Amino acid sequence: MPQSDLDVQRSTRGTKQKPSGSSVENTKIQEPNDKHPLLTPTREQYDKQGMIAAIREQFRISWHGIHGANHWARVLHHGITIGTERSADLLVIELFAFLHDSQRHSDGGDYYHGRRGAEYARSLNTVYFELSAPRIDALCEAIEHHSGGKVHDQATIQTCWDADRLDLGRVSITPSPKFLSQEAVKHIDQAYRWSRDHRNRADYRELEL
Ligand SMILES: [Fe+2]
Repeated sequence: MPQSDLDVQRSTRGTKQKPSGSSVENTKIQEPNDKHPLLTPTREQYDKQGMIAAIREQFRISWHGIHGANHWARVLHHGITIGTERSADLLVIELFAFLHDSQRHSDGGDYYHGRRGAEYARSLNTVYFELSAPRIDALCEAIEHHSGGKVHDQATIQTCWDADRLDLGRVSITPSPKFLSQEAVKHIDQAYRWSRDHRNRADYRELEL
């Protein structure tokens, strides 16, 4: 596991090869079925298991914490739900769910985690997934600015932010319609209940992240 910013930079910059000998356990992702109703299929395949293993191997904060896999699972669910309705880019949205908090150094204020996350996402392109220039740019923009309180006119980017904000109930915040798309506003009450009900449950196990 990286021990410093420098190590993180070394491990995330310019390495367009999959790490060898990744030995993270319990990172298998199952395809959606009746047992895994939260996981909606995306139309494009990528090396999800490899990517999740790589993220987990370098993850610095609690896997079970407020910015860990439980949160990602709910962001994924919200993002795919809203993104489908908005005809947005579902692969970018899915990758956002897994990557946007991947470079946090703490669960508290961490101003640059979005920027680090965007750099990390770019370093993984062509390793675990293949995004064209406009798509990786959209993913990186969504990640870099996801905690900046902005709204965006691009459906894919706004859907990423919608999905993250809809899970604010886990820290006792009711999502504000002011920062959400119209499609997302419809889900506030349900998402809030889900965040509160599931804050001590391991949603990620349902998704087998
Ligand atoms: Fe988040």
